[in-house]
Amino acid sequence: MSRCQPAAHVRPATPADLDALVTLEWQAFRGDRMSRAQYRRHLASPRAVVLVADAPGEGLLGSALVFFRAGSARARLYSIAIAAAARGRGLGAGLLAAAEDAACARGCRAVRLEVRVDNAAAIALYERAGYRRIGSCAGYYEDGADAWRYEKDCAAS
Ligand SMILES: CC(C)(COP(=O)(O)OP(=O)(O)OC[C@H]1O[C@@H](n2cnc3c(N)ncnc32)[C@H](O)[C@@H]1OP(=O)(O)O)[C@@H](O)C(=O)NCCC(=O)NCCS
Repeated sequence: MSRCQPAAHVRPATPADLDALVTLEWQAFRGDRMSRAQYRRHLASPRAVVLVADAPGEGLLGSALVFFRAGSARARLYSIAIAAAARGRGLGAGLLAAAEDAACARGCRAVRLEVRVDNAAAIALYERAGYRRIGSCAGYYEDGADAWRYEKDCAAS
């Protein structure tokens, strides 16, 4: 049996992706989930970029959400998620690179993010992509879990 899979395509999300974005959010995260109303707002906001990855016949496979603050040279990667069945084929790394490109294109100097200290897969993804750990945030998540804070300079992308 062939293990080949069609290439995924990364693009900006549109309002037509809303249902799939919310479904993915519920599948990928156990807490701190983004609501439908929040996604709708972010899709329309000039201070947010929502990216999605999809592939022919597979629908929406991943998403990334980046926030920009007026007067700040740092973009914030708020969320990145890949559908469980599509993990391990490079989509997370591809979406992360696209999010960095979006930040650089806006003139940002760096991308920052927080990640649960127990999220080994995401930590490995970020460290492999060149993010450096710059601090921690105690009790950052709804359930009281701590976060590591990471940063990567746009020049390193
Ligand atoms: C974290 C997540 C986005 C990774 O997506 P992915 O598409 O599976 O990742 P990729 O296939 O692009 O892997 C890229 C690198 O990340 C690391 N990685 C990804 N999954 C990993 C795992 N389960 N264990 C260890 N390292 C892992 C590896 O270094 C990998 O590179 P390699 O395969 O060359 O070794 C995905 O597991 C996910 O959606 N998790 C649930 C949501 C989440 O926790 N999001 C992050 C917090 S906001």
